[in-house]
Amino acid sequence: MLEPRHQTSVEALTETEAAEELARLAQEIAHHDAAYHTHDAPEISDAAYDALRRRNAAIEAQFPALIRSDSPSSRIGAAPEGGFAKIRHRVPMLSLDNAFGSTEFAEFCTRAKRFLGRTEPLVFVAEPKIDGLSINLTFEHGRFVRGATRGDGAEGEDVTANLQTMKSVPDKLHGPAPALIEIRGEVFMTKADFLALNQSQAEAGAKVFANPRNAAAGSLRQLDVRITASRPLSLFAYAQGESSEPVATTHWEYLERLKNWGFDVNPLSRRLTNETDAEAFQNQIGQERSSLGYDIDGVVYKIDDLALQRRLGFVGRAPRWAIAWKFPAEQATTTLREIRIQVGRTGALTPVAELEPVNVGGVLVARATLHNEDEIARKDIRVGDTVVLQRAGDVIPQIVSVITDRRPPDSIPYVFPDTCPTCGSNAVRPPGEVVRRCTGGLICPAQRVERLIHFVSRPAFDIDGLGDKTIQEFYNEGWLHGPADLFKLPEREAEIAAREGWGKLSARNLSRAIAARRTVPLERFIFALGIRRIGSTNAKLLARHYGTFANWRTQMVAATQVGSDERLELGSISGIGPTIAEELTDFFGEDRNIAALDELAAEVTVEDAARADAADSPIAGKTVVFTGTLETMTRPEAKARAESLGAKVTDSVSKKTDIVIVGADAGSKARKAVELGVRTVTEAEWRELVG
Ligand code: IVH
Repeated sequence: MLEPRHQTSVEALTETEAAEELARLAQEIAHHDAAYHTHDAPEISDAAYDALRRRNAAIEAQFPALIRSDSPSSRIGAAPEGGFAKIRHRVPMLSLDNAFGSTEFAEFCTRAKRFLGRTEPLVFVAEPKIDGLSINLTFEHGRFVRGATRGDGAEGEDVTANLQTMKSVPDKLHGPAPALIEIRGEVFMTKADFLALNQSQAEAGAKVFANPRNAAAGSLRQLDVRITASRPLSLFAYAQGESSEPVATTHWEYLERLKNWGFDVNPLSRRLTNETDAEAFQNQIGQERSSLGYDIDGVVYKIDDLALQRRLGFVGRAPRWAIAWKFPAEQATTTLREIRIQVGRTGALTPVAELEPVNVGGVLVARATLHNEDEIARKDIRVGDTVVLQRAGDVIPQIVSVITDRRPPDSIPYVFPDTCPTCGSNAVRPPGEVVRRCTGGLICPAQRVERLIHFVSRPAFDIDGLGDKTIQEFYNEGWLHGPADLFKLPEREAEIAAREGWGKLSARNLSRAIAARRTVPLERFIFALGIRRIGSTNAKLLARHYGTFANWRTQMVAATQVGSDERLELGSISGIGPTIAEELTDFFGEDRNIAALDELAAEVTVEDAARADAADSPIAGKTVVFTGTLETMTRPEAKARAESLGAKVTDSVSKKTDIVIVGADAGSKARKAVELGVRTVTEAEWRELVG
């Protein structure tokens, strides 16, 4: 969601509305965390993301009783995805709270002083906030031994070998150092290096990065360290982790030590002896911002005295002794040349603005998202308009407004097409929805190509060497109708080798990459199908619930019957619900889809979903329902535990339920269990059962 939707003020929310919104925000923020941290592919701007978090925090402040156990305010980032070994951080890697102006900064100072019972001004160290990725470097007896990404803050990925390729990570600290010390900093890419990398990536038909931050993260998190070694990564050190002995009494002194040990410390960092100096510093850096070689999105202010830092400690995910004062997004004006309509995998028509290229804060921008037709109408955006463009440090720039004074006299309002620009089918917009969709389904070439691109993407089949352009070209050749055809590409190896830009070696590599993916875990298989609303999380839920491909397929076909037990079961899987169930039954209700599915299943081996330590658990394979209030664990905890022991957790009681766990104040579900003769247990009995 890039645009703030119409929001009820927090004070006006009822408790039910607040609870619903917190649930929605938890899900939405978790989704964007995963997109950003795990897949290095953010979908919204930092500003939009910050707005979601702030909304969440505001509601939680108003309704503290409703704070969820999975609240985003207690989580940072996202857990790492397979590939690298995991490293638990000795000291958690936290995040920073944001201030969006001098008032919020002053409030931060007041809070800190109140906490400390002090009236005298605070001394700060101010450091530009680079948008890269934070890492933890462990040195033992002065030698670099381990490096990890932040991951979810508690556990990151072991990227030691990758970090060793970076010039700015010293192998050995210069001069005396403690037996153990952890140094933290930001790995980033300069704007120039980012643009050059993207250019060479584009020439090679490889992935182009959305912004320097993604380029840095994508370059560091490479299983093949030779790739990392070939990428221009930089590091500024700025924080401490574990240390076997104190190394400084102030942060400023600590930065000095970092420099002496051989680290780069941001040369713009300053010690401010009075908090009132912050505003001038903020303005000064704000003016230098667009001429810096790297993207910054604010200034971090840290209380200098480390003893005070220790007293202040942390609240939730952020320290009480530091704050990130963010800059407003960078803006520029340019002309809109054309509005192009893109057709996505699920048929969504997305308008994109083609712009007269313009430099926004150091990055050349030629395209901006327009979101949807309402957005165009609301801002009355027309072809030929002069528009104000905003790049919130990242991702896809947005059009903030139109300068109507500069509108050409002959301009006409934009009319959104009601047919698909690719296949000509009707494009319809169901009442209450913002998105217009092509009804062409699989006859629409754009949707087919997008589905294939999704199918080979990293979280799906993860087939190397099949970029968007290649898929489009092979599709144009008539080689790819559905996903099963991808597995027939090795039969065309000689033909592929003869194509421009290919050769024997790259064609052989492609065949190998395809062969390597003929065996696929059920959850990836389900995700790869690109069914609307079935993202990685829902695919995982389905895989765990149904266990095998054969079982899932049979159950889904049966679930297309409205009112069938299978339909009820599907809708009652925790986290699925009726809307998602309907997307699945719509998919399975189409013969064409089932044919494509079976053709694909004939090409690949689908692995059964793993059920951790489920084999000898007394609840393996059982369907359980939790009801009422649990006293010794939260719902998500109870559910996760049950699922890890091989049970299926559903939300409603039926004759298929094996056990109902009855907490305090249980109501209709407990009664229904008794009526149906389903076994009920108390929370204490349940704990005994699962150990
Ligand atoms: S200090 C406990 N200093 O901003 C404090 N962070 O929004 C830990 N960042 O995760 C962070 N420049 O990735 C710190 N000079 C700086 C920073 C900085 C950029 C990033 C870092 C952190 C994020 C928090």
